[in-house]
Amino acid sequence: MKPLLEVKNVTVRFGGVLALDDVSLEVRPGEFLSMIGPNGAGKTTLMRVVTGTVKPVSARIRLDGRDITMLPTHQRARLGLALTHQIVRPFRSMTLLDNVTLAAGHHRIGRVIRALTAVDRSAEREQARKYLELVGIAEAAEKSVLGRPLGVVKRLEVARALALEPKVLLLDEPLAGLNTAEAARLADTVAEINRGGLTVVMIEHNLGEVLRVSRRLAVLDNGRKIADGDPGAVMRDPAVRAAYLGKEYQDAAA
Ligand SMILES: Nc1ncnc2c1ncn2[C@@H]1O[C@H](COP(=O)(O)OP(=O)(O)OP(=O)(O)O)[C@@H](O)[C@H]1O
Ligand SMILES: [Mg+2]
Repeated sequence: MKPLLEVKNVTVRFGGVLALDDVSLEVRPGEFLSMIGPNGAGKTTLMRVVTGTVKPVSARIRLDGRDITMLPTHQRARLGLALTHQIVRPFRSMTLLDNVTLAAGHHRIGRVIRALTAVDRSAEREQARKYLELVGIAEAAEKSVLGRPLGVVKRLEVARALALEPKVLLLDEPLAGLNTAEAARLADTVAEINRGGLTVVMIEHNLGEVLRVSRRLAVLDNGRKIADGDPGAVMRDPAVRAAYLGKEYQDAAA
């Protein structure tokens, strides 16, 4: 099958740091790919090159056959890339519903000011409510983000990304900070969204959930991709065990 997202030869430098060293990754339609690797491996940076917020030394990015390498972030978003952030940043004084409606309006209209005036548009609100339902937080739709528990805010991030009607949903540590039960529930929600047909790329440190829900695993270490494939096979790979698990064990022992 032709790849939906093609990321080729990405190299990124931050001053003296080689954050990514010639990393390539292909994502096929309908896949659920998880990306793991130690802190600082370059996972977030790779996603930011894909969405266009980090400028690489070299890279070639194709979405659905179209070369998007030179396009600005908002055009990439409109063509179907949505990224949730490791540090969540919704509009805290707004309601959940307004947050998602704004995302839907922004996508359609392309200008934030016009999107804001469109907050009351009923079609967009209805869509927004549907996404809140999909991620399981519709009952809190009219509440402001302030004071919501992290589990709800994390789900809101996913709903806002869905409102962009992406071809590929990129999630950066959606489970971070959640307790075991919440993490499992949100992982289930993401898996359900994927089964509905949406292609998912998830960066995540929660290895238990990653192995439970994803169907392919890529491992970054120190700016390089060291493994990519069936999750079981990847976890048995000696290079992965040495680089990834080795560090985890060292951390645990420290
Ligand atoms: N804006 C930036 N300016 C300078 N250095 C950066 C910047 N963003 C990332 N880096 C560096 O690039 C490397 C890769 O960072 P990145 O955030 O992509 O790692 P990560 O795999 O997402 O890590 P984590 O699991 O901790 O989120 C690190 O050495 C980091 O310090
Ligand atoms: Mg990161």
